[in-house]
Amino acid sequence: MEIKVYKDYQAMSEAAAEMIKNEMKQDNHIVLGLATGSTPIGLYQKLAESCAAGEISFQHASSYNLDEYVGIPMDHPESYHTFMNENFFKHVDFPKGATHVPWTDGVNPEVDCRAYDEAVQKAGGIDIQVLGIGGNGHIAFNEPDESFTEETHIAYLDERTIQDNSRFFDSMEQVPKSAITVGMGVIMKARRVIILANGANKADAVYKMVHGQIKPQVPASILRLHPNVTLLLDEDAARKLKK
Ligand code: F6R
Repeated sequence: MEIKVYKDYQAMSEAAAEMIKNEMKQDNHIVLGLATGSTPIGLYQKLAESCAAGEISFQHASSYNLDEYVGIPMDHPESYHTFMNENFFKHVDFPKGATHVPWTDGVNPEVDCRAYDEAVQKAGGIDIQVLGIGGNGHIAFNEPDESFTEETHIAYLDERTIQDNSRFFDSMEQVPKSAITVGMGVIMKARRVIILANGANKADAVYKMVHGQIKPQVPASILRLHPNVTLLLDEDAARKLKK
C-alpha cells in the first residue's frame, strides 16, 4: 500500500484527480468504480473542471458505484443516485447508460445483487476503484463483521454508520438502516484502488487499516492484500500513523 499525505483536503483531492486523469490519458476506455460521501466531492469537482477544460473526456468511460440505500426512492435528495448526478455525472460527458449505481426496490434483492455483480464482470471489472473509509473502518457498506463478504449484498448499517449518515437527514428515524453494496470481490479485483481519507475523525480507522490486524472487524484492512492501492490522506487523517 502506497501512502501519500497532503497538507489539506484540496491538495489531496487534486492529487487523486491527477492520478485518474493520467490513467485516462493512457486509456480513455476506462471503467471507474465510484464512491459517494463527503470525501470524494473535491475529486469529482477537479475531474469535472478538467472535463470542461477539454483535458479529459468520459465519452468512452463507464462507471459503477459502490452502494445505495434501501428503502428510499431513487430520486430522494439523499439517495446515492441523486448524489452522483448532482456532484459528478451532470457535470461531465458520460454517454447515456454508461453510469451505474446499484439499486434494489427490496422485492428481489438477491436477484438485484447478482445482476450488479454480473454487470461489473461483463464490463471487464473495475480499472480504478475510488474509495472512502467509514469512521468504523468500513469500505463501501462492508461493515465490521465476523467474515468478509465477497459478493454484492444487502448490508445492515452499523450504529456508527447510521449516526454518521444522520447529518444528511432531518431525524435519526429517517436514516436508512440498510443498503445494497458491492462486496470485497469487486473491490479486490479492481486493477487499481485509490482510497481517500480526510479529517481527524478518520484517524483511528486509518491507523487500524494500516497498522492493525487484517480482519473483517476492520473491513478496510483487507486492502493491504491488494497489489495496487494508493492511500491519500490529509494531515489530520494521517496524524496517528507511525512515521
Ligand atoms: C460511499 C461509501 C462509504 C463512504 C464512507 C465515508 O459510497 O461506500 O463507504 O466512502 O462512509 O463517507 P464520507 O466520505 O462521507 O466520510
